[in-house]
Amino acid sequence: MADQRPRVWVSQPLFDDTVAQLAAYCDVVATPEITAHDSAALAAQLAGVDGALVTLNDRIGAAEVAAASQLKVIANVGVGYNNLDIPALSAAGILATNTPDVLTETTADLGFALLMAAARRIVESDRWLRDGQWGQWSFTTMLGTDLHGSTLGILGMGRIGQAIARRGHHGFGMKVLYHNRSPLPEDVEREVGARYAGFDELLSHADHLLLVLPYTAQNHHIIDATALAKMKPSATLVNIARGGIVDELALADALSNGRLASAALDVYENEPQVRPELLALRNIVLTPHIGSASLATRRAMVQLAVDNLQAGLGIGPDAGRPVNVVNADLLDSGTARVATSGGKTIIKKR
Ligand code: GLV
Repeated sequence: MADQRPRVWVSQPLFDDTVAQLAAYCDVVATPEITAHDSAALAAQLAGVDGALVTLNDRIGAAEVAAASQLKVIANVGVGYNNLDIPALSAAGILATNTPDVLTETTADLGFALLMAAARRIVESDRWLRDGQWGQWSFTTMLGTDLHGSTLGILGMGRIGQAIARRGHHGFGMKVLYHNRSPLPEDVEREVGARYAGFDELLSHADHLLLVLPYTAQNHHIIDATALAKMKPSATLVNIARGGIVDELALADALSNGRLASAALDVYENEPQVRPELLALRNIVLTPHIGSASLATRRAMVQLAVDNLQAGLGIGPDAGRPVNVVNADLLDSGTARVATSGGKTIIKKR
């Protein structure tokens, strides 16, 4: 064990009672208010701490950890970790952890909620009604697109994609197609009720397309004008992954020119900014990155991140190998700043 209590920085207000668990084992510096930390602020906070609990707002790479010679573990509160430069953290020997599994079903629920809201024009109807436009009931008001019996396309078939496929297939009788880097094993395909399709086949056959893939440099703007042109004009597009996957201007153009019926976005390329071209459209539902935002799930995510951080620092009830290490090769190669001993991580002496 270390010869002194580790120091931990918490980058955003989370759930105080959960974060308070850390104080039993570490000295904690917690950010009291929601703060957009720029690169210099991150570098200053990370210098001098052993661990950090961060969120997707905190973009951390080589520059931010250059002076953080004690930093051993960054615990991201979120499943996506494109805010972290993993090669840079690995090069510095810093472990990165994330919070998968605990948010799968909640995020799949939101994907489905957005799909229903967009395809059945629920938000648009609400706004129209509140605007006093409902003069008389009419047979053709707010005609939308069915979910039941339609073809659901899923791009990215990890845990959340599979949870969405189950909802579509078992709950709504949808035919489910998916595209992924590699096809799922046949028994998993059968269980979730989905069939593998090529990228172009997915685009052209889907009545509704959900984007659930991790964001990487390779899939930046994978849904661009060319991809959108391959979709049915009657289709719905839902993005609950990361904003950079969709070319937002091309999407706005397709939605305003009748080349795509409707869309829903929970994520944006330049959060929290949302393009005026999107805000101006009626046929798009826009939510502020709330995929995992149920109270129970957000609490579970913070708990898991705290557990990961403590385990990574070799402290607390679960001292040992953190369960959700993103760059686990560090532990295996022995190049992590934490030392492992008998399967347990222990803090290297400073
Ligand atoms: C949220 O977007 C997450 O990655 O957990």
